[in-house]
Amino acid sequence: MSDAAPAVSVAKRPADVMKKLVALCKQRGFVFQSSEIYGGLKSAYDYGPLGAELKRNLMGEWWKDMVTTRENVVGIDASIIMHPNVWRASGHAAGFSDPLVDCKVSKERFRADKAPRPAVGAELPITCPDKGVAKDWADQIEKNFGIIMERDGNVLSGVRAISASEVGFFPKGASAPTKTWPWRGYVSPTFGSAFLTEEKQFNLMFRTALGAVDPMAEVSDIIGDMFVFDEALLLANDRKKGDELIAAVRRKFPKEASDKEHPIGKAIEDGNRHLIIRTVIEAVTRNSMVYLRPETAQAMFVQFKNVMDSSGMKPPFGIAQMGKSFRNEVTVEHFIFRSCEFEQMEMEFFCEPGTQKEWMTFWKEARMSWWRRFANYPEDFVFRQHAKDEMAFYADDCYDVEYKYPWGWGELEGIASRTDYDLTQHEKHSGVTLQYVDQEKADPKTGAKPWKYKPYVIEPAAGATRALLCFLIDAYHEEERTTATGEKEIRTVLKLHPKLAPIKCAVLPLVKKDGMPEKAREIIAALLKAGVNAKYDEKASIGKRYAKHDEIGTPYCITVDGDTLTADTVTLRDRDTTLQIRLPIAEVVATIKARLEA
Ligand code: GAP
Repeated sequence: MSDAAPAVSVAKRPADVMKKLVALCKQRGFVFQSSEIYGGLKSAYDYGPLGAELKRNLMGEWWKDMVTTRENVVGIDASIIMHPNVWRASGHAAGFSDPLVDCKVSKERFRADKAPRPAVGAELPITCPDKGVAKDWADQIEKNFGIIMERDGNVLSGVRAISASEVGFFPKGASAPTKTWPWRGYVSPTFGSAFLTEEKQFNLMFRTALGAVDPMAEVSDIIGDMFVFDEALLLANDRKKGDELIAAVRRKFPKEASDKEHPIGKAIEDGNRHLIIRTVIEAVTRNSMVYLRPETAQAMFVQFKNVMDSSGMKPPFGIAQMGKSFRNEVTVEHFIFRSCEFEQMEMEFFCEPGTQKEWMTFWKEARMSWWRRFANYPEDFVFRQHAKDEMAFYADDCYDVEYKYPWGWGELEGIASRTDYDLTQHEKHSGVTLQYVDQEKADPKTGAKPWKYKPYVIEPAAGATRALLCFLIDAYHEEERTTATGEKEIRTVLKLHPKLAPIKCAVLPLVKKDGMPEKAREIIAALLKAGVNAKYDEKASIGKRYAKHDEIGTPYCITVDGDTLTADTVTLRDRDTTLQIRLPIAEVVATIKARLEA
């Protein structure tokens, strides 16, 4: 038996899709705010029963596509905490600190390196959120900076970039500034303000301590000891500065304090008390300090030799890994798009120098075809090549897979040609040779065998939690339908790819009596035995149960009804078309499995 599908008009993506998705995620158990009953933790999320299943399916599909169906890729599962020198070698320990600036007027905090840089001579108007705020900010600027800016609606004007390092206030009609102040060439991104604080470094890596002894106790002991005043140790020089702190540091760290290249020595030389204390704390905690990895990638470089030696892999080959990464992001935004704890799916593909272009083409195609395979709208996934000044200095090419998020195009995956930079860095910092010796080939430079080289690397690096968000957005549909009785209704349906869908099949007795629940239980037992994630559901009317399973993306519903009891048949409803067919119970498992595999 088959019913005609109702007339539908599909709204691919309602304007407020994010609001609706966030609500659906909580209501149905995909994603919850972390620690919600305690008021929630900013930028950390928990995946509920359906979200956990969806994430496992998604990451499982990536692993299958990148590792288990490829002869030349192997996987690893490395520790989240690694030796701190890994991050010194990779540049994260230094490079992962972004300069941040606050706007003194709006209090907006932003990354200095990403801020707009108006040309010298340009007007620098502040565009306030509305007229009322414009008045408040104008008053604030007058009070704090002694400047009366001209106010027109929500815009405050009068500030101009005089040079690359100075701005000035020009009252209306004035050709010379009445006040000038130093400037670093950028304004705040949202409002365009040039009233800014100094830049501050923020370390984006999460730090923790390895070892049962709390390093803070050691820090306080040492600092406490340092302040035991010892007249004899006040050197003439320090006495002149009147600084017993320096004397105490010299006593505790005599070698470091007299080494002008050491941070403690440098800080003493500088005479900055805050810096001296900071360098001492760094020195004390250095031995126990570890970081939570900010990316999964580095373990693949660090274990390159072990993997090659143990598995017999030789270039061209890849090492893949997926799992948690942690970054103290400056801005966390758009739900799980950018959070502090997230998951990545990365692969480092090691190839002969000179072949990286071909492999870049290969992996670009492979990755794009993976994304589009699971999408309802493949055209929403595109490549964007990085401009030269956007790439890391060591990369020789880089593409982003971008997705059309409701707020605009944005990154989903980066595919970078990283040359031999990472292996070179780890070789330098660890002292271990990280190269491949190809006995068969001659070195192109010398013409002699063997060819010893550090492989070049192509790195497809995707966000798993970001992918989960992107597939939820892609799947979210609202359909206006005309029911059999002629009424209009809105159907919310998550058209998740069946391989990603958390529940593959719901088994629904039409009513909770007449032996229907028992029959449904028999069917569900057979499905579960066959490895199909199926759920029994008898609550509410059959229409409400269909609606619920549409909303959570269950691709198939099996309904046990009166005919089941007499003819041993059930209905199979397809989520996307809502069409139903009748089939014998004996064919249910094979039919569902075949559809899931199709
Ligand atoms: N190993 C290279 C690397 O980590 P990345 O562009 O910083 O490159 C790769 O990260 C992917 O990880 C991004 O394309 C994005 O999908 C995801 N990602 C990065 N930071 C994230 C965050 N704070 N929250 C969620 N996903 C993030």
